[in-house]
Amino acid sequence: AYVTSKKMLLDAQAGHYAVGAFNAENMEMVKAIIRAAEELHAPVMIQTTGGTLKYGTPETYAAIVKSEAERASVPVCLHLDHGPSYETAVRCIVAGYSSVMMDGSKLPFEDNIKVSKQVADLAAAVGIPCEAELGKVGGKEDDTVSDGKDIYTDPQEAKEFAERTGISSLAVGIGTSHGFYKGIPVLDVNRLSEIRAVVEVPLVLHGASGLTDDQVRECVKRGICKVNFATELRNAYSRAVADYFKKDPDVVDPKKYGEAAMEAVKALVKARMKVCGCDGKA
Ligand code: 13P
Ligand code: ZN
Ligand code: NA
Repeated sequence: AYVTSKKMLLDAQAGHYAVGAFNAENMEMVKAIIRAAEELHAPVMIQTTGGTLKYGTPETYAAIVKSEAERASVPVCLHLDHGPSYETAVRCIVAGYSSVMMDGSKLPFEDNIKVSKQVADLAAAVGIPCEAELGKVGGKEDDTVSDGKDIYTDPQEAKEFAERTGISSLAVGIGTSHGFYKGIPVLDVNRLSEIRAVVEVPLVLHGASGLTDDQVRECVKRGICKVNFATELRNAYSRAVADYFKKDPDVVDPKKYGEAAMEAVKALVKARMKVCGCDGKA
């Protein structure tokens, strides 16, 4: 079924597990993510960044995800990831997205509050949850960059931010980065517990590609209710296509390597869902 992210994240918070949120670029990735969720009986979030929306359009992704979700045996949500502006949130909501993020994390605190509240109010008016971000996730997810300062979320600021904006979930900076890591990153998990102690809404972990299973589990134990995976899926998809072409350089039918790519993405998503603990929750 096609649903919003509201119940799935509150259920995750109450049940002490996390929903996996997986970035999709095309129909094959959408199908692979939903198949994984169905096989594991897991609720699932599919998300697209601003960059992905330039590759396709919000209307295209909404049409693909909705039609697949309506036939699915598990709850599926479509979420705008790292929404760059109020206008993008409007566009995605009109297109049919069932969850949005406003990423104002590069802005000064008051400006971030202002735009996040605008999007949260708009989303609330149409019954859609809104995620926002305070602190920074390193690396590159479209235009989201970190300059090395103010990366970590301050717990008291997070409490004030969540209360004044009325957001439904909060993305936190605790040392993760978008993309793969050089080595294993050091996460400030004590800070995560401190944030969890004072912030009521579900917390979101970005940049999970490259984290060890134990790191993800530790973050979920300390209060993360949504974990974002993007780079690992893109990598699994692309390696599978490359391998297929090595095996059969003369392949003509895109369905052939599309099927191989879907299998690879599905296997990865299932493994990550189990680490998040959302298997069997739908
Ligand atoms: P990764 O690319 O590191 O998995 O980050 C995903 C993410 O945070 C999407 O918003
Ligand atoms: Zn992210
Ligand atoms: Na990462």
